[in-house]
Amino acid sequence: YIQALQGMETGTLKIAVVTTAKYVIPPLLADFCNAHPGIEVTLKVANRAQLIERLKNNQDDIYIFSQPPEDMPITAEAFLLNKLSVIAPHNYSGPDHCTLASLADQRVLLREQGSGTRKLIDEYCRKNGIEFTQPMIIESNEAIRLAVATGLGIAIISEHTLAHTPTDDVKLLSVNDFPLHNHWQAVTLNSRPESLAASGFKQFLREHGDVTG
Ligand code: PGA
Repeated sequence: YIQALQGMETGTLKIAVVTTAKYVIPPLLADFCNAHPGIEVTLKVANRAQLIERLKNNQDDIYIFSQPPEDMPITAEAFLLNKLSVIAPHNYSGPDHCTLASLADQRVLLREQGSGTRKLIDEYCRKNGIEFTQPMIIESNEAIRLAVATGLGIAIISEHTLAHTPTDDVKLLSVNDFPLHNHWQAVTLNSRPESLAASGFKQFLREHGDVTG
């Protein structure tokens, strides 16, 4: 037991997260690293498609996705709720309390192909026959939030992206079916032997998440 404990106190832990999870994981890392100062942590941030490539190449110990790939030998464990909401400039005066279809002719700021956020929005639009007439691609959540705040258009974005920003920066619209819900999941490749540091971090996420059972 003591050896197991010592094993966990040293070594490296390579974590790779989708860009939107960078709002979720770093605040947790402080507590984890303070409790286990001997573990050397590296954190990679990339979009969903880039993270799937890293997973295929077995580059990291733990991956954080909201939509893990479905066709790979992995273990995925949900630990925290993720909500996608529709945001508009604070002085927006267009439709509100409405459907997403009734916003389709607004300029909509969207993440790039390969983004998990984008994938979820595309799936919702396909299912509901919605096509945006003025889409604009912006490859960063922060850039999208700032562009919305200054009046460029509306966007659908994880509420985590809005944490730690002035509350009057942007306005949350009330749109049917929104927020869309999914969960942040800790993903590991089944063929990679799990280090003590990795299983310790997964346990830590379980204890600090909001998923029970
Ligand atoms: P993204 O992923 O940063 O690639 O948009 C977010 C997600 O998977 O929810």
